[in-house]
Amino acid sequence: MHISQTLKTVEFPSFIFNASGPRCTTQGELLKIAGSSAGGITMKSCSPEARQWNPEPRYIEVDMWSINSMGLPNHGYKKYLEYAAEIKKQFPNKPIIASIVWFCPEDFFLLIKAFQEDKNVDVLEVNLSCPNVVGKPQIAYDFETTDELLQQIFALGITKPIGFKLPPYFDPVHTEMMANILKKYPVDFITCINSVGNTLIIDPETEQPLIAPKWGLGGLWGDYVKPVALANVRMFYKMIWDKTKIIWCGWIKNGIDVFEHLLAGASLVQLGTVFGKEDTDCFERIESEFIEYASSKGYSDISEIIWNLKEL
Ligand code: DHB
Repeated sequence: MHISQTLKTVEFPSFIFNASGPRCTTQGELLKIAGSSAGGITMKSCSPEARQWNPEPRYIEVDMWSINSMGLPNHGYKKYLEYAAEIKKQFPNKPIIASIVWFCPEDFFLLIKAFQEDKNVDVLEVNLSCPNVVGKPQIAYDFETTDELLQQIFALGITKPIGFKLPPYFDPVHTEMMANILKKYPVDFITCINSVGNTLIIDPETEQPLIAPKWGLGGLWGDYVKPVALANVRMFYKMIWDKTKIIWCGWIKNGIDVFEHLLAGASLVQLGTVFGKEDTDCFERIESEFIEYASSKGYSDISEIIWNLKEL
């Protein structure tokens, strides 16, 4: 089965790798991903300065869902430049994705320029959808601000593959509005979706929310989020397939979930919750489950599956 993929000129030996989420904050965690069968290494979303975790409890997981508000803990972007140098030294053939986040344009520009100029980072993922910092917006729900930000970012003269991590949209009209903005710029990929932001789960026994930060509001993943992710992938692919690839970041439990998202139009796949739970073994497990399932259906290359959803 042919499972390599490219983003612009960057080769991913496998289209399955980690999401910016669990287990990608420290240098040790990043080196462990690089040494596994993950096709690339996404570093934790980083900000200009280091940030601490939100107060506990900040992450609760049961079988069918998880809710989180980690609070963007990271070591600050300068550390991720150092970590990228060490990863590249030890694993020169694995692409490194820097995930960039903050809430004012000047900070975005500072970080984008730093990673763009760095010789070790291969791909830039700009996160426009973090729901977990009190008082800060999920930027990609504000279409006008997103348009202005993209205009300014591309004016910096970006040469590396660059993409944007988006929140879920629940109305195809909104997906179309965002797609029309993306089409105006040389966007290489989008990562969709981030968690369903600002949800509340209450424990009736204790009469409290399950997590402490932000009045109990947090990002939701779960079995019922997967159809939202599939719909976002399908609707975006329909509108921007000719110039922008889609990285699916969703609720993945097994290789068949991956198969479904390729059918809907994703070209690459990031694992988040399952990676948090199983550690790096999940990359090999999910890849081999995917290969077994896709081969049994007669496919020999992921490009034959992408956007191959049959019409009813
Ligand atoms: C966090 C959560 C997100 O969904 C995200 O995109 C970035 C950071 C967090 O809480 O750490």
